Amino acid sequence: MTDRRTLPVLDILPPAPAAAPRRPSAPIDGRLAEYRPEDQALPRFWIWTLGCQMNRSDSEEIAGRLAAAGCAQAPSLETADLVVVNTCAIREAAEQKVIGRQDQLARLKAANPALRIIMTGCSVREPDRAKLRRRYPAIDLFLRPDEEPELVDRLGLASAQAAIGLAAIGRDGPGGDRTDWPAGSSGSSPATGSTTLVGRTVVGAADHLAASRAGALAAGAIRRSSAISAWVPIIYGCDKTCTYCIVPFSRGPERSRPFDDVVAEVRSLAAAGYREVTLLGQNVNSYGHDLPAEERFAHVGRQRQVGHQLDLRARPDLAELLRAIDGLRTADGRPAIPRLRFVTSHPWDLSDRLVEAIAACDSVCEHLHLPVQSGDDAVLRRMGRQYTIEHYLERLERIRAAVPGITVSTDVIVGFCGETEAQFEATLRLLEQVRYDQVFAAAFSPRPGTPAARLPDDVPAAEKRRRLNVLLALQEQIGLERNRAWLGREVEVLVETIVPRRAHDHDPANGDGPDDRNRPDDDAAEPDSGDPDRPSAAPAGEGRVGLSGRTRGNKLVHLLGDPALVGHLVSVRVEHAGPYSLRGRLVGAAGEHAP
Ligand code: SAM
Ligand code: SF4
Ligand code: F3S
Repeated sequence: MTDRRTLPVLDILPPAPAAAPRRPSAPIDGRLAEYRPEDQALPRFWIWTLGCQMNRSDSEEIAGRLAAAGCAQAPSLETADLVVVNTCAIREAAEQKVIGRQDQLARLKAANPALRIIMTGCSVREPDRAKLRRRYPAIDLFLRPDEEPELVDRLGLASAQAAIGLAAIGRDGPGGDRTDWPAGSSGSSPATGSTTLVGRTVVGAADHLAASRAGALAAGAIRRSSAISAWVPIIYGCDKTCTYCIVPFSRGPERSRPFDDVVAEVRSLAAAGYREVTLLGQNVNSYGHDLPAEERFAHVGRQRQVGHQLDLRARPDLAELLRAIDGLRTADGRPAIPRLRFVTSHPWDLSDRLVEAIAACDSVCEHLHLPVQSGDDAVLRRMGRQYTIEHYLERLERIRAAVPGITVSTDVIVGFCGETEAQFEATLRLLEQVRYDQVFAAAFSPRPGTPAARLPDDVPAAEKRRRLNVLLALQEQIGLERNRAWLGREVEVLVETIVPRRAHDHDPANGDGPDDRNRPDDDAAEPDSGDPDRPSAAPAGEGRVGLSGRTRGNKLVHLLGDPALVGHLVSVRVEHAGPYSLRGRLVGAAGEHAP
């Protein structure tokens, strides 16, 4: 399905069929000429990314495609000629962030008529296109998440110097009979821009995304935001259809990337010196069920005990993938990627095979993010979560037995339709029982078009807020106690960043703010806590600066040290514990197998 709206500037014809020889993009409107490399300087782009890691990973691909087409990144949104807004729709507050900046975007456009603004991400859903155009008048082009690979072509930027975009997309979807993706190869996927149904709703079909990622990788068109820690999407979309959730409508049904493609991407990351890889999927542990059956995976289906609605006969699963990546070794036998993570797991698909793989693989970090959403079975049923608390606890018990000391985090929604005080309290009791290391909590926000939007949203806003605050206060206490257990211990930290000193910081590395790395970029977890006390650092003499990094259990750790330590695994003795992070003293380089 193609966007047929009247905005003239960027609406070009659908891409040519895959077999057609590659042509330079031929925009139908003269105003696009400003973007054509042969005519004028290429636009400088700025990508504003909201939402989860999947969006951030998508933005890396968008940035890579634009860079490969010859565009440079602008120093700021204000100075860009091309702004890409990669949206999140998980809660209304996330969408409000973009709505709230409409005036600013309109002002920038008035000042710079050449400015083009593209909106993509989860707010761009097929049935809503007309509404989006009305709601966001400053936006020139809307691309669903599955249409992002089209961006370069739709802008008329693809040219002989840009061997990416649709040109790189093979004819068939994942596991299909792919030809090669040589730089400069031609043709477009007929699957690009195609749609399917989730229930009765038209959604983008992500059939071509695996192939387009492979094309972008072959063309070197992924612009990663870190040289240390990389995101690797392994499965797109979500088949779970939890009643409150917009994701299946934004991202469509599940599509796994071919097993060997993922392993090859991780191998190249290891060769490039990456220390950490996080495998991404909205439902990462259902990976593989849609891939073609292969003899080499014959054992998988037989050994799988949960997630039995998935047909895994002779298809790979996440356990198989973890083992294959862990099997990538350096010449001296160490894991080529010392830290391997994966998010987000659905409790329903947490198989014994996966638990065993987590326990067996040296590189797989001792941390599991396992969203529970509610502590009450009736609420879980209304949410369509497909498990009971008993099942959830049984899975947790199993993994805690298999991986002693594993840290566990979760997501919780408070104030879901019909949630009683007693049901809310059941969630509090669950937190007390499980004693999570971290909880990402949010008030229920009805999402138009989801099944829950038809249920009465009967918990008043003030009551949702109260419940959220009660839950966060409880978790703060639990988090503090969990973190205090690390006092005096030595932990392995992968140093990731130099922490910028804030103007009002006086005490070095005294921060203990909530961790936002895994949290959608919106209102979750801090309803009215104001500006959290973000980690900070100060010059500490002798060339030392404030640094931060993470333990294998995903604990945020602050320390002072040489800036050259960024990217290295170090040993840190924990001297201070707050509810959200640890602070410690550097004691030396870490052995790469340290716990
Ligand atoms: N796939 C993951 C799972 O199964 O839990 C999570 C994906 S979602 C991007 C991240 C979190 O957002 C969810 O776990 C849920 O807690 C929260 N969330 C989703 N829809 C929501 C809604 N309508 N209102 C409030 N929170 C929501
Ligand atoms: Fe949304 Fe549920 Fe899918 Fe997670 S599993 S993305 S909460 S539908
Ligand atoms: Fe989409 Fe991620 Fe937000 S999948 S709705 S960007 S949390």
